[in-house]
Amino acid sequence: MKEQLAAIRQQALAAFEAAADTAALDALRVQYLGKKGELTALLKQMGGLSPEERPAMGQLANEVRAALEQALEQRGKELEALALEQRLKDETLDITVPGKQVKLGHRHPMYIALDEFKAIFIGMGFTVLDGPEVELAELNFDRLNAEEGHPSRDWSDTFYFDKDSRVMLRSQTSPMQVRAMDTMPLPIRIIAPGRVYRKDEVDATHSPMFHQVEGMVIDKGVTMADLKGTLNTVVEQLYGKGTKTRFRPHHFPFTEPSCEMDVQCHKCGGVGCPTCKGEGWIELLGAGMIHPKVLKMSGIDPEVYSGWAFGIGLERTAMRRFKIADLRLIFENDVRFLEQF
Ligand code: DAH
Repeated sequence: MKEQLAAIRQQALAAFEAAADTAALDALRVQYLGKKGELTALLKQMGGLSPEERPAMGQLANEVRAALEQALEQRGKELEALALEQRLKDETLDITVPGKQVKLGHRHPMYIALDEFKAIFIGMGFTVLDGPEVELAELNFDRLNAEEGHPSRDWSDTFYFDKDSRVMLRSQTSPMQVRAMDTMPLPIRIIAPGRVYRKDEVDATHSPMFHQVEGMVIDKGVTMADLKGTLNTVVEQLYGKGTKTRFRPHHFPFTEPSCEMDVQCHKCGGVGCPTCKGEGWIELLGAGMIHPKVLKMSGIDPEVYSGWAFGIGLERTAMRRFKIADLRLIFENDVRFLEQF
């Protein structure tokens, strides 16, 4: 038994010394000193010794236990100190390391143009509306006087969700006119920017998704002169004082009369150049006086109220504002391009 005690002592002390961390040390404590540990197991055999042998063995066993406990405590302290040292080393902050450069982003040029546009209209008392991109064909077409059979309702032009052509991705922001008329008290002055979708192939001037801003005013005694006056004011704020506009007759189902508005080419001042394709003018938006039928369908009496509306392409506005030649650049989000604005 004496030899066994000596062997346990030797093994345990060596093992404690080799323990790499406090968890390993704790496992060793259980292994040697625990209830089912090696030393405990040996002590249980004491009963088999003769009464003369027992006191000396008991004393020896206690010495071994005390030695192990002391070694454990000692090694535990060492390991804790080592762990602390390591942590301090790991967590050292080198305050001389150069900082990581934070790259600040900025607004997309199209949204810069939109914000300018909004600020102008908000300044004139307009409310900015947001509306759904998934729209009812009823609001996108019927309520805007584009009846069954209107070419823009064709499946080759419009993204429908159902075979009955009732739910679609809006092809224009004009259904926001109907939503405003249906929900807002008169008089109404709104603009409604947002995405619209058409089955167009991507090229330098087309994209199946683009942005429009709808504008609408309904009040008593509103005339075409108000439309022209308002749009001229907006154009002067966007493109500079003295910028000339012209209004050409056009056709839209929901306005009567309808027109398109051009601005004099900023590049050549109206003489004709490649930017305006020799025209001297650049088409900017569609507009007109709201068709009496459209007002009636929304329960507004066209004998009492009148209104005007316009729809403008936002990408084109931004392209003109920042002299961007290709529409695709707006959507590609190449930072080398975006950084320039
Ligand atoms: N919705 C028309 C389009 O997408 C643009 C438009 C024209 C809007 C005339 C209007 C308007 O509000 O009065 O081509």
